[in-house]
Amino acid sequence: MQPEPTTNLVHPAQAKLPPERWPTREEAQRSLLFSPIRYGVCVARTRSWVPAMVPWRSIEDGSVTPDILDWYGRLADGRPGVIVVEATGIRDVPSGPLLRIGGERFVPGLSELTRVVRERSGGATRLFVQIIDFLGIRRRPEKEKYLRRFLVLREEHRAGLRLPGASDEAVREALLALPHERLLALLSPREREDLEFGARERVTDTHLPHIAELPRVLPELFADAAQRARLAGFDGVELHYAHAYTMASFLSRTNTRADGYGGSPKARVRLPLEVLAAVRTRVGSDFTVGCRLLGDEVIEGGSRVEDAAFYATELARAGIDFVSVSKGGRFEDAKQPKVGEAAYPYTGPSGQECMPTRTIDARGPFGRNLELSRAIRAAVRAAGFETPIGGAGGINSFELAERALREADCDFVAAARQSLADPDWWRKMETGRGSQIRRCIFSNYCEALDQRHKQVTCQLWDRDFDAPDPGRDDVARSSDAKRRLVPPPWVPQ
Ligand SMILES: Cc1cc2nc3c(=O)[nH]c(=O)nc-3n(C[C@H](O)[C@H](O)[C@H](O)COP(=O)(O)O)c2cc1C
Repeated sequence: MQPEPTTNLVHPAQAKLPPERWPTREEAQRSLLFSPIRYGVCVARTRSWVPAMVPWRSIEDGSVTPDILDWYGRLADGRPGVIVVEATGIRDVPSGPLLRIGGERFVPGLSELTRVVRERSGGATRLFVQIIDFLGIRRRPEKEKYLRRFLVLREEHRAGLRLPGASDEAVREALLALPHERLLALLSPREREDLEFGARERVTDTHLPHIAELPRVLPELFADAAQRARLAGFDGVELHYAHAYTMASFLSRTNTRADGYGGSPKARVRLPLEVLAAVRTRVGSDFTVGCRLLGDEVIEGGSRVEDAAFYATELARAGIDFVSVSKGGRFEDAKQPKVGEAAYPYTGPSGQECMPTRTIDARGPFGRNLELSRAIRAAVRAAGFETPIGGAGGINSFELAERALREADCDFVAAARQSLADPDWWRKMETGRGSQIRRCIFSNYCEALDQRHKQVTCQLWDRDFDAPDPGRDDVARSSDAKRRLVPPPWVPQ
């Protein structure tokens, strides 16, 4: 009896996906999707991208582990034009199991990573690394701990309690004894947030010296990281100017810094331009430097596509090699975390737009954010620049990808969750075997694991223990042993 192909439908929800028509090999050969594109000095064989996705395969010291090599090696099997390695921290500080590039000691591991991707893709895939800075965030505290230890007492607290001149200890006890609603009424909005969500730094906290000096320190930190990326053999870097992190917060309309780095569109894009200039000076013109930014922040008072179009045009003018467009994923509208957990920026409406599920609304996730890349691209072209602009969000089929490219929504297409569901899907399309594609059901099973900082896998393959991992006797499993860590190999039918 023939073994069941691993690409068979494995989840009932796959049947609910809109039917797809996949290209023949000839159609794929003639397509824009499978045609070359240039990002600065680097030419990619096709316009397909696996964008940055944190798989939580590193360890506390932020180094490249064998699991990281297996993960990116497996993505490289599918031979996309570009893979962007997950958000990788530029500072030499403990960052949990986030991959890091904040010191020379990370270079050998990262070199091994570029070697593996080159080998497994047969040289077909260009490899960029997304480099990130982020600000401090604390877990939501126990109320008692917050009131006894973290809250900095102010005269207003004493006045509100009618305890003028009382000792700190007495004030803290009185606050603890208040009914919750009365306590909240006594706290400032920021203190309320610290208590209910956990303290989170903002780029506007310029009373804190390390926040005030961000424009002084970040250009060199990014430049150092980019230089290490170059040394490690990457084809380029993607500056992380998107989602909930430092650089996106500088670009945000909510950035009211009064030091020349906030308050107007021109001032908000100043630091991103200075970071780009420092990186470029360091790595030279023969290394690709692009960025990811938000086409829309999707939060109240946040930046909209007109802002993004302006930023992208200024970055293009400054010589950026590509702009990859994302959407949302901000902390401002995140759900309240449980006590002991940190807020996660993909839980509110902006997060849902960043990684839209199948049930987000009647329109669904498919190509949902392409109007943003389209408007940004049009603005960049109108200003006379040919900078490639990328679109992402629910890209899951040849027709959608090809239409987006043909109709000028974008110049390259990035598919994260579909590539996680089936890393070989690019190669299957390219060779006319689209019917063998395991189709993402956009349930956000992967994103839920990411939220808990658990090794990210896909529900469509992570219990399939029958298929072996090539080169091993056993199947590599997650730390709880319940899930396989890499998708089963593709046996072409
Ligand atoms: C598990 C997971 C981790 C992600 N990590 C990152 C990241 O490190 N950097 C980033 O810019 N986007 C990250 N994203 C967002 C994706 O790159 C992509 O923009 C988003 O999932 C929408 O595309 P899709 O519909 O093709 O999945 C992540 C997404 C997922 C599902």
